[in-house]
Amino acid sequence: MTPPHPAWLPVSAFRPVGSRRVRVTGAGTLVDTVRGEVAAAVAAHGGALVDDGPADLELVCGGDDGSEAFTVARAGATSVRADGGAGLLYGFHHVVRLGEAAFAADFAPERHAPRRSIRMLDHWDNMDVHPVMGQVERGYSGDSIFYADGRVREDLGRVEAYARLLGSTGVNRVGLNNVNVHRTEARLLTDLLPDAVRLADAFRPHGIRVHLSVGFASPITLGGLSTADPLDPAVREWWNRATAAVYAAIPDFGGYVVKADSEGRPGPFAYGRDHADGANLLARALAPFGGTVFWRAFVYDHHQDWRDRSTDRARAAHDHFAPLDGAFDPNVVLQVKYGPLDFQAREPVSPVIAAMPGTRLAVELQVTQEYTGQQKHVCHLVPQWSEILRFPLGGDAVGDIADGVVAVSNVGQDRFWTGHPLAQANLFGFGRLAWDDRLAPEAVLDEWIGLTFEDPAAREPLRDLMGDSWRTYERYTAPLGVGFMVNPGDHYGPGVDGYEYSRWGTYHFADRDGVGVDRTRATGTGFTGQYPAPWRDVYESAETCPDELLLFFHHVPYGHVLRSGRTVVQHIYDTHFAGVEEVGRMVGVWAELKGRVPDAVFGRVEELLAEQLRCATEWRDQVNTYFFRKSGVPDAHGRTIH
Ligand code: GCU
Repeated sequence: MTPPHPAWLPVSAFRPVGSRRVRVTGAGTLVDTVRGEVAAAVAAHGGALVDDGPADLELVCGGDDGSEAFTVARAGATSVRADGGAGLLYGFHHVVRLGEAAFAADFAPERHAPRRSIRMLDHWDNMDVHPVMGQVERGYSGDSIFYADGRVREDLGRVEAYARLLGSTGVNRVGLNNVNVHRTEARLLTDLLPDAVRLADAFRPHGIRVHLSVGFASPITLGGLSTADPLDPAVREWWNRATAAVYAAIPDFGGYVVKADSEGRPGPFAYGRDHADGANLLARALAPFGGTVFWRAFVYDHHQDWRDRSTDRARAAHDHFAPLDGAFDPNVVLQVKYGPLDFQAREPVSPVIAAMPGTRLAVELQVTQEYTGQQKHVCHLVPQWSEILRFPLGGDAVGDIADGVVAVSNVGQDRFWTGHPLAQANLFGFGRLAWDDRLAPEAVLDEWIGLTFEDPAAREPLRDLMGDSWRTYERYTAPLGVGFMVNPGDHYGPGVDGYEYSRWGTYHFADRDGVGVDRTRATGTGFTGQYPAPWRDVYESAETCPDELLLFFHHVPYGHVLRSGRTVVQHIYDTHFAGVEEVGRMVGVWAELKGRVPDAVFGRVEELLAEQLRCATEWRDQVNTYFFRKSGVPDAHGRTIH
């Protein structure tokens, strides 16, 4: 088997550390991991792992209290000090990222601690190949790295390499299976538990705890009970026993992830119970062992009638969950998608995040690019996540409110891990922002480029190509926050009316006069009322609503003048022409990198950029033609609209 692509940990990234004398002091699994890293680095670059005598780098772990903070200082030698193995591991990788700068005479001392303890990636991997979704639901990088033929893979070399990559960014939890729990992987909780143990063993040396997605009806489907009612003592007993068995096998097991009463998944509603009853049932089974239940707030009516204008999918999570604030046990984390709909390129931040001060919350992001180009398009998402986490919702920034940041992973068996080699930057950037959402997206991108590519001449073109690519993607797809307009089912490419008459509740309501969804309190669905001040009023008025979200909140005439001074329809034409032009320019920027990046990377990205240009052109032409036909308004600049 070809060795896994090194991603952001190529041998060359370890030169500054590996060419020096390094001492590692301390004991424990994670300290051993650091020692192994140092041993490999010095073997590659001519330094030495020393026990006595002078060292250029001291890596000192004072205890093993599980803490994740570390300090870096310079006094003759550079030293990293931590009270826990995890802190030492993160400190070591911090020095790797700093490179030579960590050894400069004027290096000023630094202290680092994560902004939150929950930094998690969920895998939507199935053990079997699902007939519609394939093996990885919304996966664009080949088969699952975990599973083959209904079992955990024999060779876990790639999983170990993946765990190492994640650990280096600070990710500390992984969900092992799809939130839509199908038959085979449901059994990871019972007779296939030894398979989960093997994965836990692969992640543990990198400071990562594993989690299982479980079906709420497991007491019936796996346990043979006649009910899964959360208040039934036999059900409680079943979960207690199943959970105890998991902890007997995986003592540091993280807990469960649950998608309940969502898109056809079973849940507490079937028994007339609410989501707090459901979540607390599992929380109480996990509590004696220190486990957590990640309970997803993605609950809405997926059998909506498009004729019914009173139902608004955007309202659903808040309607269901806000009244339950304070009712969840302390080891429940409510996992809330960042927007009220579904991982669109542009959505307002979910009002649920501000509505539940008495509940632990995690914000859920999507590293896998379901709605953002499916790892065929360059779409660097770190700026989007940064915007979300910095958004001042109800006084505090989202990143200050959230106890956790969770995202759906984007890796698979693909030789570059992520299909698009540049999509590795999203995986890296997720870990870095989950650790500290105040990091500048540009700095995170620079870190990734610096680690991944040896040739310094590659830096500027890569920045240029990737830095603004999320906004470029936004320009050539659904306009002004209206969302969707994708092909139903696979969600790739334009399908302007693809969901317009469907049951999924994602409409744009374009007619001959205008477009957008009226979610105001005055005349619409009232969704704006779920926001705290000032947003409830900012979004309520078409005058104050930010342009990029106008059509999410308002139905307006095509001639409505945006804050930018342009009309809605002219904005649609302009942004779609500009977006495609920009992709054309990106193709040229990449061409400059021939010979400066590995040939295989060059070839793959070149191929994918051609697809991005084709697809963006299709988006432009379908969206522009659609709105020209609806509105009859010609382009002010006379460009070709078909
Ligand atoms: C999206 C996605 C589904 C997924 C769901 C979820 O709707 O298309 O594949 O199951 O989100 O987050 O549960």
